[in-house]
Amino acid sequence: MIQFLLNRELRTEHALDPNVTVLNYLREHVGKTGTKEGCASGDCGACTVVVGELDGDRVRYRTLNSCLTFVSSLHGKQLITVEDLKHQGRLHSVQQAMVDCHGSQCGFCTPGFIMSLFALQKNSDGFDKGQTLEALAGNLCRCTGYRPIIDAAEQACRQKQSDQFDAFESDTVAKLKAIAPRETAELNSGDKRCLVPLTVADLAEIYVANPQARLLAGGTDLALEVTQFHRELPVMIYVGHIEDMKRIEVTDEAIEIGAAATLTDCYQALAADYPDFGELLHRFASLQIRNQGTLGGNIGNASPIGDAPPLLIALGAQIALRQGNSRRILPLQDYFLDYKVTARQEGEFIEKIIVPRARPNQAFRAYKVSKRLDDDISAVCAAFNLTIEDGVVRDARIAFGGMAGIPKRASACEAALIGSAWYPDVIERACEALSEDFTPLTDFRASKEYRLLTAQNLLRKFFLEQQSPEIETRVTAYA
Ligand SMILES: Cc1cc2nc3c(=O)[nH]c(=O)nc-3n(C[C@H](O)[C@H](O)[C@H](O)COP(=O)(O)OP(=O)(O)OC[C@H]3O[C@@H](n4cnc5c(N)ncnc54)[C@H](O)[C@@H]3O)c2cc1C
Ligand code: FES
Ligand code: FES
Repeated sequence: MIQFLLNRELRTEHALDPNVTVLNYLREHVGKTGTKEGCASGDCGACTVVVGELDGDRVRYRTLNSCLTFVSSLHGKQLITVEDLKHQGRLHSVQQAMVDCHGSQCGFCTPGFIMSLFALQKNSDGFDKGQTLEALAGNLCRCTGYRPIIDAAEQACRQKQSDQFDAFESDTVAKLKAIAPRETAELNSGDKRCLVPLTVADLAEIYVANPQARLLAGGTDLALEVTQFHRELPVMIYVGHIEDMKRIEVTDEAIEIGAAATLTDCYQALAADYPDFGELLHRFASLQIRNQGTLGGNIGNASPIGDAPPLLIALGAQIALRQGNSRRILPLQDYFLDYKVTARQEGEFIEKIIVPRARPNQAFRAYKVSKRLDDDISAVCAAFNLTIEDGVVRDARIAFGGMAGIPKRASACEAALIGSAWYPDVIERACEALSEDFTPLTDFRASKEYRLLTAQNLLRKFFLEQQSPEIETRVTAYA
């Protein structure tokens, strides 16, 4: 049984197929059709809803794509949809702003934009153009054009007023506390089940007993199997309620990130030591995806074009794996064995990711190259982590995504650099060595020639930026 608030109404679901997404639940089970389906793959934002979670004695509101969220992940939370914004016959101030600024034409995208604007207004203090663009990057509109919608965001943020969610906040907090999960929950229908453990120990026990289960974190990858490939997932284990796996701890030696920490939370923590993580965050999918996707999922899906693994491998990150009561630590670079094949054993899961703290003399840069700036997957992602002392490269860890079937270190390139002067001729030799390291593929994102040349040019770019930091352009876009 799972429980959550649908706005302020308590919903208890005893028997429901755990493969049902929040979008389908709203539209087909509850009859709330305001939330729209555009793509069912996380790309258009028409299905955007807002989820409220307890943050001490406040409610924290974040946008999600309901098409990629399974209902079981709502357990203990508040779901707010576009129908909930109008109150006592009056439009919410974000809805009124869209009307005033002519932000809607055919209207299909409008509920999703409204929900993104609602969360933006709740999380902002005044109008900030950059924050607005970030909040709206995951919403597509084919009719109106974005200018009137950005005008609406400006009006809504500048004229922010207290609303019914503020007025009822203490009541919502009390209700959320009353339904806060206290033991492992289960949502099932027939032989389809989703288990929702609350502790790492319970997860370990349940997973060993059900090794065929699929681990569900944010679901931004897993849910595509249901919405795009029309498969059924008979057993899932949702890890998003395990506080120890959402924790981020910073010690003198390392940044330790629970595998279920959201991308939004963990990239912010990593950016304090490695600013390029912050830059990459803005290029990683959309805010909706980053609010629900996790670092554990980004590693767990073993995609050759996942954005975090090349950066983490270059930094020498390790992962803590657990299977029942056994634990082991593995360098992340040894986790990826072949295309979608990992070193993870049956019933084993990633508990946390351990990233070394930044050191003096360390030059770390990362570059993502994709066709679009926002909400696009990398054609090539490169991470360079070099220690240069007295003009000599003492150490080099270089990793790429998009260049092989797995995220992979460029060991020939590294060997060409280590012990050599940090000098243009050496860089050219290291660029040559990249063709020994990689035989990239051609696909719809890029040709193999483009990928190899881009990888070499990124090394040249890194070199030039280290010579003259003032010429740096931190984020590379556009293939
Ligand atoms: C529109 C869109 C845009 C995207 N853009 C990007 C992008 O720019 N860059 C990028 O890198 N990715 C992108 N992705 C992919 C995806 O969002 C990320 O990989 C995300 O980090 C996955 O995390 P999740 O928590 O949602 O994983 P889930 O979907 O929950 O899980 C993914 C896989 O990891 C496994 N898993 C989850 N947790 C664990 C664990 N603790 N231990 C072991 N296995 C585990 C699951 O069983 C599953 O096989 C995009 C996806 C979409 C839909
Ligand atoms: S329907 Fe397009 S993002 Fe969900
Ligand atoms: S108003 Fe038609 S898609 Fe945006």
